[in-house]
Amino acid sequence: MKEQLELIQKNALAALEAAETPAALEELRVKLLGKKGELTAVLKLMGKLSPEERPVMGQMANTVRATIEAKLEERKAAINAAVLEAKLAAESIDVTIPGDNVQLGHQHPMNMVLQEIKDIFVGMGYTVVDGPEVELASYNFTRLNIEEGHPSRDRSDTFYFDDNDEVLLRTQTSSMQIRFMENNQPPLCMLAPGRVFRKDEADATHSPMFHQIEGLVVAEHITMGDLKGALITIMNKIYGHDAQVRFRPHHFPFTEPSCEMDMQCHKCHGTGEVDGQVCSTCHGEGWIELLGAGMVHPEVLRNCGIDPEKYSGFAFGIGLERTAMGRLKITDLRLIFDNDVRFLNQF
Ligand code: PHE
Repeated sequence: MKEQLELIQKNALAALEAAETPAALEELRVKLLGKKGELTAVLKLMGKLSPEERPVMGQMANTVRATIEAKLEERKAAINAAVLEAKLAAESIDVTIPGDNVQLGHQHPMNMVLQEIKDIFVGMGYTVVDGPEVELASYNFTRLNIEEGHPSRDRSDTFYFDDNDEVLLRTQTSSMQIRFMENNQPPLCMLAPGRVFRKDEADATHSPMFHQIEGLVVAEHITMGDLKGALITIMNKIYGHDAQVRFRPHHFPFTEPSCEMDMQCHKCHGTGEVDGQVCSTCHGEGWIELLGAGMVHPEVLRNCGIDPEKYSGFAFGIGLERTAMGRLKITDLRLIFDNDVRFLNQF
């Protein structure tokens, strides 16, 4: 029995030394010390020993058990330390590896130009307002003196929501003239930027959705000279003092007299040609139409409860995309809507 115990201890210590995982250790613990383990099996034979031998063997068995237990604890600690070590090594972070670049976005170029324009007008005393894109025909057309049957009301030009042609996507920010005059008495100075919608095919200078900036000034003794002065001042502030613009007579039902203002094409510099080809930005015109304007029609003032005998005013509607194109030397309007980051990152 003494030899048996010595053998158990020797083999156990060797096996424990060789075990390398927590699972292998646990397996050994059961095998050596468990109820059906080797040591227990030997202890069961104690009954067969003589009374003199029994305490001696008993004590020896206890020592063997204690030795195995101590070795088990020692190996457990060593293996756990090794496991932790391996884990730390696997999860270690090399702080010297260069990081992933975070792409920082910025304001869209068109909004940059809008912000510039708003700042200029606010500096001139204008109030900036916002209004609905889904609009009533009465604001978009009727009260702006655009009679039934006018071509701009046509279903081929305007997006309607109903069969009676009463609710629509506004085709111009001029609807904001009525909304503002309804609620404000002269003297007034309003700027209303926003989206407008028309059934247009997209090309280098057209898009079915684009932005306008409506301006309206109504007070006593306002003249066409004030309108020209305001527009030239703003153009000089946006484009610099050599801004090339021209005014042409035009017709709008809600202004009288009316005009349009063009900016010299920034691609062909007014020649209409680039490398012997027709300029694709201005379609060979040499000029790009930027805005419509005029003196507010007396009928429009009356429609808003303002006395045209006492007050007069001017209004204008600037095409924001085209203004931004000139300001940032963009040659195709579609680039503004594509949102290609290679384009956007240039600003
Ligand atoms: N609303 C006109 C357009 O969309 C522009 C305009 C605004 C003309 C104000 C005169 C006065 O073409």
